[in-house]
Amino acid sequence: MPVNIRGRHFLKLLDYSPAEIRYLLDLAKDFKSMKQAGTPHRYLEGKNIVLLFEKTSTRTRCSFEVAGHDLGMGVTYLDPGSSQMGKKESIADTARVLGRMYDGIEYRGFSQALVEELAKYAGVPVWNGLTDQFHPTQMLADLLTMEEKFGTLKGLRFTYMGDARNNMGNSLMIACAKMGLHFTACAPKELFPAPELVETAKAIAGESGGSVTLTEDVEAGTRDADVIYTDIWVSMGEPDSVWEERIRLLRPYQVNAAVMANAKDSAIFMHCLPSFHDTRTTIGAEIAEKFGVPEMEVTDEVFESSRSVVFDEAENRMHTIKAVIYATLC
Ligand code: CP
Ligand code: NVA
Repeated sequence: MPVNIRGRHFLKLLDYSPAEIRYLLDLAKDFKSMKQAGTPHRYLEGKNIVLLFEKTSTRTRCSFEVAGHDLGMGVTYLDPGSSQMGKKESIADTARVLGRMYDGIEYRGFSQALVEELAKYAGVPVWNGLTDQFHPTQMLADLLTMEEKFGTLKGLRFTYMGDARNNMGNSLMIACAKMGLHFTACAPKELFPAPELVETAKAIAGESGGSVTLTEDVEAGTRDADVIYTDIWVSMGEPDSVWEERIRLLRPYQVNAAVMANAKDSAIFMHCLPSFHDTRTTIGAEIAEKFGVPEMEVTDEVFESSRSVVFDEAENRMHTIKAVIYATLC
């Protein structure tokens, strides 16, 4: 049956079937080829989208802006603090106002409940640009990147190291389960994903031929992996007071040369970015000084190595977001 997701929201990968995810990845490949060939694709001229950000962003914002412009659309950006939303106007009212003016709404914010509420009232497609629970547009970029590197997704051994119950841990577990990868969360048990989500992911993996494993053991968790993935240890919206405890918990789970040596020779390193792999950022320098940790979730050596595909992932954010916009609006 042909896939048609016109008019749908894109709030979390749980809402999408493997066939629909496959369709979006193939569409993204087509858009990437067109972009590389310089072939114009202004298929959505006359339409307008709005980008609502309650947290900061480089990749997601720029991907939506460039994708929107490439598709011929008008794009409005509202930065954290520059709209009435939340302070003077409810999510429901904001959604109904923006839905009267725009053809689609991107939202980055705090709880998943907020983006779901926005979608309930908007009357136009709403795209989740990251919440505390999920980061679905990042998943499409990551799946596309892995498929480009390995030629397949099914059966890949994927290990996520770090805070496995943050937006990235949750989303990668579901994305891998949907597409038939063997997902391992390698993390301290305090930072394992919620048991209900793990059960859901295991049920999905049972249908796709994938699997879901949680382990605290770094050696076992990274052995013969095809992909080693990590994310920052403290996410946007978390208080600074959690740094000390998080460093204590996650230091043993840093991606370093020993971890990569334990994975397959062909293994790649992935990260959604931004990353604290050196002290050339304000926060990186502060943490290094305060806690004596100059490299956090990944060493600079691994980040800068030929096995690191982090900038391919970043580029693929734009091609995959373009596919989501096009498929839900056209
Ligand atoms: N990966 C990601 O979402 O990056 P930004 O926070 O820069 O959008
Ligand atoms: N877990 C990170 C992801 C950033 C893309 C955060 O929420 O800050």
